[in-house]
Amino acid sequence: MASQLGAQVLVASNRGPVSYALGEDGALTARRGGGGLVSGLSSIGPETEAVWVCAALGDGDREAARRTGGDLDPADTGGQRVRMLDIDPDIFAAAYNGVANSTLWFVHHLLYQTPLEPSFGAEFRAQWASYELYNTAFADALADEAAEGAAVLVQDYHLALVPGMLRERRPDLRIGHFSHTPWAPVSYYRMLPDDIAEKLLLGILGADRAAFLTHRWAQAFMGCAQQVLGADCLTQWPKDDTPSLVSFAPGRAAHKTWINVHGLGADADFLRERAHRPDVNERMAALREQIGPGRKTVVRVDRTELSKNIVRGLLAYRQLLADRPEWRERVVHVAFAYPSRQDLAVYREYTAEVQRLTDEINAEYGTEGWTPVILHVKDDFARSLAAYRLADVALVNPIRDGMNLVAKEVPVVSDEGCALVLSREAGAYEELGEEAIVVNPYDVLGTAEALHEALTMPPGERAERTKRLAAAATALPPQQWFLDQLNALTA
Ligand code: F6P
Repeated sequence: MASQLGAQVLVASNRGPVSYALGEDGALTARRGGGGLVSGLSSIGPETEAVWVCAALGDGDREAARRTGGDLDPADTGGQRVRMLDIDPDIFAAAYNGVANSTLWFVHHLLYQTPLEPSFGAEFRAQWASYELYNTAFADALADEAAEGAAVLVQDYHLALVPGMLRERRPDLRIGHFSHTPWAPVSYYRMLPDDIAEKLLLGILGADRAAFLTHRWAQAFMGCAQQVLGADCLTQWPKDDTPSLVSFAPGRAAHKTWINVHGLGADADFLRERAHRPDVNERMAALREQIGPGRKTVVRVDRTELSKNIVRGLLAYRQLLADRPEWRERVVHVAFAYPSRQDLAVYREYTAEVQRLTDEINAEYGTEGWTPVILHVKDDFARSLAAYRLADVALVNPIRDGMNLVAKEVPVVSDEGCALVLSREAGAYEELGEEAIVVNPYDVLGTAEALHEALTMPPGERAERTKRLAAAATALPPQQWFLDQLNALTA
């Protein structure tokens, strides 16, 4: 698959395609990650001389960056050129934990408990200064790496200032920005200090194209550009997929940014093949043993992320057992909640609450041969696929989510069809809403009822819906998703 662009391609993201662990003996072990960008980038031809610019996240990464001068060993990256930036650890921590994770992530996912937070004081201003330095490091590296006329695809809220900084350094480049998260509604976005709210928008609008996973997030972004910056927006949605335009003139010649929507889908070929390897079969057998014969399963697989709403999912399941005793001993909630952002106290507390509530439900309802909730917290991809295959019901109930690929992956690998209980606040709702049982993620009673409806869905209907869900979920595979963005940059 070749890009029509005929130019060098650069990708910039905070987290790169490989991470390193540093052993006590000083040896480095590389671990390659997956995801849409990895498959997308590996599918374009070598003529694009692609370079991936990312940050060193931990001690292992920093050591690898130091040993290689930042240009990682291709043996560790599957041949992909990766430039890993060894940014000062304090600057990185303030930018990543302070601004990206504790502020921008919270704003776009509506996570604040507003009577007390956010509170933007001197500490935040210092973190913001680090965020600017961290974005500058990326802009400098990209400006240095990019050939004349190259296409640069900048990812996410971590790097919101990069497009604007890069345009100043290299006006010859074609720059795209992609948001993998939701975008906040303007009233919520305006909690940010005014100057910072403007800088973030202007940063992204430094791109030729800014892209989002759904029309809803794209429209929210345009609403912010209009109301915060006074930009002109030409909206052509939702009639068709024609991109919209934001144009603004911040004291200089008007600059135009096209707004696109590219709804990343599941990688069916990869998933179906991977889900039938022996390690997945082994884990299915082990899970079946734990679940017990003849029982139905409600499966969820998430990072233990505040926006995923795992706690209300458990509360809804407890409600189901309370309201409908006929399900006791006949259903198991299989919850995989993998560690995430454990540097932040609020994530550690949330993780503890998931464990506490699980124990409480198991103590309240569990019997000799029945554990109502099976919780696993150790990341295991093969076991996740095993759970996808045997799920009767998949519970995907985020407070807010850019897309949620679990909702798309389960129907693709499900063995016998799976009913999907889906939050209307997940980006995936835009494509899967019609075939799912849709919930308001805050409504615990409503979610409990939805679980009952899903568990009692007749097998024929379940199988039919799963087929339609799988078709919708795979409409835009990662390779095409990536190429579409790249080709849009030439238009
Ligand atoms: O899933 C949305 C997303 O923004 C990804 O694009 C990004 O890689 C991830 O979240 C960030 O998570 P982490 O902080 O664990 O790298």
